Amino acid sequence: MNDTIASLYQQFLSELQNATTEQVLEQVRVAFLGRSGHLTELMKQLKELSVEEKRVVGPQLNQLKIDLETAYQKRQQELFAAQVARIHEENKYFDVTAYKKEELPARTHIYTKILQELEDIFISMGYEIGDGPEIEHDYYNFEGLNIPMNHPARDMHDTFWLNVPGMLMRTQTSNVQVHSMEKKQPPMAIFAPGRVYRNEALDASHEWMFTQTEGIFIDKNVSLSHLLATLQTFLRQLFQKEDLKIRVRPGYFPFVEPGLEVDISCPFCSKGCSTCKKTGWIELLGGGLIHPNVLRKSGIDPEIYSGFAFGMGVERLAMIRHGIDDIRLFHSSNLSFLDQF
Ligand code: PHE
Repeated sequence: MNDTIASLYQQFLSELQNATTEQVLEQVRVAFLGRSGHLTELMKQLKELSVEEKRVVGPQLNQLKIDLETAYQKRQQELFAAQVARIHEENKYFDVTAYKKEELPARTHIYTKILQELEDIFISMGYEIGDGPEIEHDYYNFEGLNIPMNHPARDMHDTFWLNVPGMLMRTQTSNVQVHSMEKKQPPMAIFAPGRVYRNEALDASHEWMFTQTEGIFIDKNVSLSHLLATLQTFLRQLFQKEDLKIRVRPGYFPFVEPGLEVDISCPFCSKGCSTCKKTGWIELLGGGLIHPNVLRKSGIDPEIYSGFAFGMGVERLAMIRHGIDDIRLFHSSNLSFLDQF
């Protein structure tokens, strides 16, 4: 029995030594220490021995079990340590630049793009870029623009009023007119893009927040022909179309007199398409000569100076130019939409 115990132990040690992977190690463990392994077989033989023999062999077998388990654990730790060392070795010269998480490239938003384009055109015509507050006092959004309290034109603007009396979210960039005139004397040429807010029901062509741009030019002897020439030059450049025509219709805005609605000849067709609704013309801008009341209120003498102003919606412009049919897409995070630009 003694010999068997000793040789089993030796055999176990040598098999452990040959086990260089976790799987093989596990096979060895099962073969020796498992439910029906060699050790269990030996334990079974114990039954057939006499009481005296049992007294001797029993503790020996118990010791064998302990020795086998100890040897197994030692080998297990060795293998683990070897594995760790191997991983260390493999990663010793780990190239941190070799793996890069896939990232989405940043892009300029269609808004920003078109605004930059518009600004570039007006800067090239000698305009400076202006700005005005989005949280505004009634005076700059209405009163100073010749829209007094109770004026019916106020109904055209579904205004977001704030809890502070007289304060609102601007409904138009025309507030920049009043601020600019208060700050400086003519001549002035200002182009001012910015957000405006209207309390309107949301649909494919209406947003509660959108972008407008305001153009202002004030000097001596400014007439409608200056406005028309400016708009035509600008629009031809924007649509990259030398023969683009503009058409004017009377329009009503309390802060201009006369007031105009400006259409452009459809840049996409000659006979009528879906963009121009088969009319050949597209409605694009409002404008006119700044009302003498507006000039006077802001401290500019209408006897000496005159000026023009015009305004347009930027989303509408982008929609026409790029054939976009839903204004809500601009504020969405819809990447398949945004990626196109
Ligand atoms: N502010 C006007 C609007 O929101 C547009 C406009 C600007 C008209 C300047 C005339 C002059 O509709």
